[in-house]
Amino acid sequence: MMAANWKMNKLADEAEEYVVRLLPQISNVEGVDVAIFAPFTCLGRVASMTRDTAVIAGAQNFYYEDSGAFTGEVSAPMLKDVGAGAVIVGHSERREIFGETDEMVARKTVRATKAGLLPVVCVGETKEERDSGRMWEKVSGQVRAVFEHLDAGEVAGEDIVFAYEPVWAIGTGDVASPEDAQDAIGRIRDLLGELGGENFAGKVRILYGGSVKPGNVGEIMAQVDVDGGLVGGASLEADSFAELVNGAAEGG
Ligand code: 13P
Repeated sequence: MMAANWKMNKLADEAEEYVVRLLPQISNVEGVDVAIFAPFTCLGRVASMTRDTAVIAGAQNFYYEDSGAFTGEVSAPMLKDVGAGAVIVGHSERREIFGETDEMVARKTVRATKAGLLPVVCVGETKEERDSGRMWEKVSGQVRAVFEHLDAGEVAGEDIVFAYEPVWAIGTGDVASPEDAQDAIGRIRDLLGELGGENFAGKVRILYGGSVKPGNVGEIMAQVDVDGGLVGGASLEADSFAELVNGAAEGG
């Protein structure tokens, strides 16, 4: 899977131009699921433009209650209503800037799977945590917290995606080495096996995110446990994202 996370970028017309430019460039790609995580304000447009294609339109966040007095929030039925098929959960920017807790991330993950939205659950350590040898403590804690609420017996491995996004690699150009990406993602898969069984763990897709670019995508995607990428900056131009999708198809 190659996923574009536009973050807080693009007006509706810009989103439309992007999709028009992207689709012909990826129409021959096989074996890679492509997702675009758009802002709420242009999600409906992206979803309707990609409805008859293999591209999944997704949101970058939602709230786990379905309706009610939650000013400013958007629910799973609302996302489904505009045609979304997936949603990012627990991105580090939401955890760090907007105070999302492990518990909220877990509740959102459960709600997404029950609503038929594919959650892309993000985990990852800060530079300080990595430098002090606490990478796995942080990442494993975030993964375990999801399973405080999620019953792996009730969800198929295909219906949940994890993304390992080390915070120090996001938007910095400081991409993880292929070995570090494989190390973390391999350990996440082992932990998923412990929590949900081997069959479940084998089917969950685990993406790498953080400064993925056309020049480094191939070697990261070639790692055995890396099932794709979640891309910010390099997904903002349709040509560059198309290159990543094509590169992933070749590398992975
Ligand atoms: P960059 O690709 O800009 O480093 O962002 C990664 C990310 O946060 C994707 O969710």
